[in-house]
Amino acid sequence: MEDGNSVALLKGVSDCLADFAGHFDLRIAAEQLLTTALTHIGAEFGYVGEVLYDGAGNPYLKTFALTNIAWDDATRRLYEESATSGLEFRNLKTLFGVGLLSAKPVISNEPSMDPRRGGLPHGHPPLNSFLALPILRGGTLIGQIGFGNRGGGFDQKVLDALKPISSTFAVMIEGSRADTRRKASELDLIRTDHHLKQATALQSQFVSMASHEFRNPLSIILSSTELLERYSQKFNEPKLKTHFERIRTSIAHMQAILEDVLVLGKAESGTLQFNPEPIDLAAVTHLVFQSLPSGRERCHLRITGEYEPALLDAKLMHQIIENLVSNALKYSAEDSGVCVELVFSGCNVAVSVEDKGVGIPPEDIKKIFEPFVRARNAPDFSGTGLGLAVVRACVARQNGTIQIDSTLGAGTRICATFPCTTR
Ligand SMILES: Nc1ncnc2c1ncn2[C@@H]1O[C@H](COP(=O)(O)OP(=O)(O)OP(=O)(O)O)[C@@H](O)[C@H]1O
Ligand SMILES: [Mg+2]
Repeated sequence: MEDGNSVALLKGVSDCLADFAGHFDLRIAAEQLLTTALTHIGAEFGYVGEVLYDGAGNPYLKTFALTNIAWDDATRRLYEESATSGLEFRNLKTLFGVGLLSAKPVISNEPSMDPRRGGLPHGHPPLNSFLALPILRGGTLIGQIGFGNRGGGFDQKVLDALKPISSTFAVMIEGSRADTRRKASELDLIRTDHHLKQATALQSQFVSMASHEFRNPLSIILSSTELLERYSQKFNEPKLKTHFERIRTSIAHMQAILEDVLVLGKAESGTLQFNPEPIDLAAVTHLVFQSLPSGRERCHLRITGEYEPALLDAKLMHQIIENLVSNALKYSAEDSGVCVELVFSGCNVAVSVEDKGVGIPPEDIKKIFEPFVRARNAPDFSGTGLGLAVVRACVARQNGTIQIDSTLGAGTRICATFPCTTR
């Protein structure tokens, strides 16, 4: 620690800082600086680490660099494994623990007799002297450097000599933390941007779908209203009924599309409500059958297992069953049946809907739950491609999973399973 030595120390410190400013890799810089410090004070081994806090608020040390003093295979493996992630030291009833709790330097020139010692692990090389130095930033403890086995022990002079080292570590830890924060906010920004782009794409898809899908029902409503306005006196009862029915059906169609878009919007923004209560799934299914505009005579309900109320959301379950059943009816022949099965097993309940219809081409199955996606064999059937996206959102909101089995030309079975019985 002669004058020449101090010049070497300052050069080491400034080289290390310059390198660090280029790569912001704390581990590389810490190793460099620790070696400089060890040489400067003439100690055998050392460590440097960041002070972190566990769930209970207790400080612990996570190393950036430490001299490899492995003394057997197990410690050698430990050093190798923790080379990149760092070792954690949590025992506060030790000499370094005293330093963590007090945020003050700890000097022990006779560690084996020191009442503050925690003892060394079996096989650890003898510790003749020890120094732990706090790394402080704005009065807060953010790290610790420690040294072992210096000929002649440690004293105030060594502490003073190490000041440039500890303040450089403080700058580097702060710098690295700021860099981590900057990277995290950059990642956040990228994510938000991606999310925004997705939302904008979805919105423009919705606008083009709505302008296309709403045109037909709106012109039906317009023409029927005009006819009723002009000729209602001349129309007989059945003719009047036909026009009112056309208006009602067109409105219902638009309402259904809007409802789907609303559910998807809520799912996207995380505001889709899930109010679990014991519900009678058979009753919900019958309600869906009754609300179908046509085809209810083709639908059958089968119950397997021990029937009991399910702890689910009635509204979400109605949406799921309605979408699956109307798909099954739409994509299958008018003389074929559709089977809804409720399977109760253990703590789970599964709702499956099966048809003997056109099926889905295997290459389309993967994306079929995305909004606006329709299979390549769907153009002969009317639809917006929102139904299954709604099903997926309603199933996910109730912590369920979906399974789909489909064979082109033979039929489709979609099954949603929920962890939800009241048992
Ligand atoms: N049971 C089924 N059999 C065959 N194909 C199906 C079945 N269910 C869904 N599909 C395919 O999946 C696509 C997406 O279904 P989804 O319910 O999301 O949309 P859609 O039925 O086309 O329109 P809508 O929004 O009116 O429900 C359909 O276009 C169809 O290609
Ligand atoms: Mg559908």
